[in-house]
Amino acid sequence: MTTATNVMELECSECRKKYDAEVEQHLCTCGRPLLVRYDLKQAATTLTLENLSKRARTLWRYREVLPPGDPVTLGEGMTPLLYTARLGASMGLRRLYVKDEGLNPTGSFKARGMTAAVTRAKQLGAKTLAAPTAGNAGGALAAYAAAAGIPAVIVMPADTPSANVMECQAFGATVVKLNGLISDCGKYVAERKDREGWYDVSTLKEPYRVEGKKTMGYELWEEFRGKLPEVILYPTGGGVGLIGMCKAFDEMQEMGWIGAERPRMVAVQAEGCAPIVKAWEGHRDAAEFFANAATIASGLRVPGPLGDLMMLRMLRQTNGTALTVSDSEMLQAGRELASMEGIFAAPEGAATVIAARKLAASGWIKPGETVVLFNTGTGYKYSEAWQRALQA
Ligand SMILES: Cc1ncc(COP(=O)(O)O)c(C=O)c1O
Ligand SMILES: [Zn+2]
Repeated sequence: MTTATNVMELECSECRKKYDAEVEQHLCTCGRPLLVRYDLKQAATTLTLENLSKRARTLWRYREVLPPGDPVTLGEGMTPLLYTARLGASMGLRRLYVKDEGLNPTGSFKARGMTAAVTRAKQLGAKTLAAPTAGNAGGALAAYAAAAGIPAVIVMPADTPSANVMECQAFGATVVKLNGLISDCGKYVAERKDREGWYDVSTLKEPYRVEGKKTMGYELWEEFRGKLPEVILYPTGGGVGLIGMCKAFDEMQEMGWIGAERPRMVAVQAEGCAPIVKAWEGHRDAAEFFANAATIASGLRVPGPLGDLMMLRMLRQTNGTALTVSDSEMLQAGRELASMEGIFAAPEGAATVIAARKLAASGWIKPGETVVLFNTGTGYKYSEAWQRALQA
């Protein structure tokens, strides 16, 4: 596969300072994340619906708008977009879909970010990959590191779901368990990375995970045949998918594929960890650290997301919103999604069902609008949470 690239440079998401994309880069000197900028005019000459129809069914089909390098791939992306008529009818929605990211390698959408990040890290000569994780990102990083032949160090809270611990160990990663949250795990990596020579793959601390995750937006466009849905509900922790999809829509507009219209983006968080919802409700531009974060949706247990400014801006720009769901609502919705539609979801994904129901009931979502829920991970990895729910 070609390693020709349309990548021009990296740009700070806040102060717009530019950086050389040919060398390893992490955060801007202002402390904020860097985003990848492409020659989109060039990309648009070959990235067309017609050409796409002939390409392999992995996210690397969007090669023109992805980082260069021989892809380290496990067949990620092109997940099913399922029309969920029965679930939709139960909340008065006629066009409700679930994008089932649980079918990715390692059972979550984290595979998308990691295929792109590990591909680039390998090309830049990374010796050891390290990341803090709420669970699924660690599993995905461990898998792609193994596929790339690069050692990985995964740092996770001690109470991370056991499936995530086991997969990391099986993939041969070094697993560090800490009594704390992902923010403490992040500090652990930050304090050691220079001394140990680790390449930091933390959420938004390298520019390429966003690139992998943005392909969810490209896939929706392709699956809806050159259109986008009216509403997207996304379970938001670090916010990489939300940021990635909005970036994809901006790129599509620049390539002339769509106009200025955007899907209304909805950030769904857990009651026990909702820094973005709190900031949104308080009409603030930035989020505060959410103290004593606790939820069974381990992926949503991100008390101090680095992408807060970007996420809040994107919710405003798309006329979106943000709302919380309780743990018991998530588990109840998970059972509904499973029994009505045959989709066994992660609690994070199930959270979007409750959020959609609330927004449909309040009239924020109209009955005929096209709505996509993101089930970001498989329910099979959450045996502890599901055991409790099913016994109750
Ligand atoms: C299943 C699942 N859903 C959602 C999230 C949140 O993802 P993001 O960082 O893109 O907000 C995670 C993160 O760990 C996750 O594992
Ligand atoms: Zn900056």
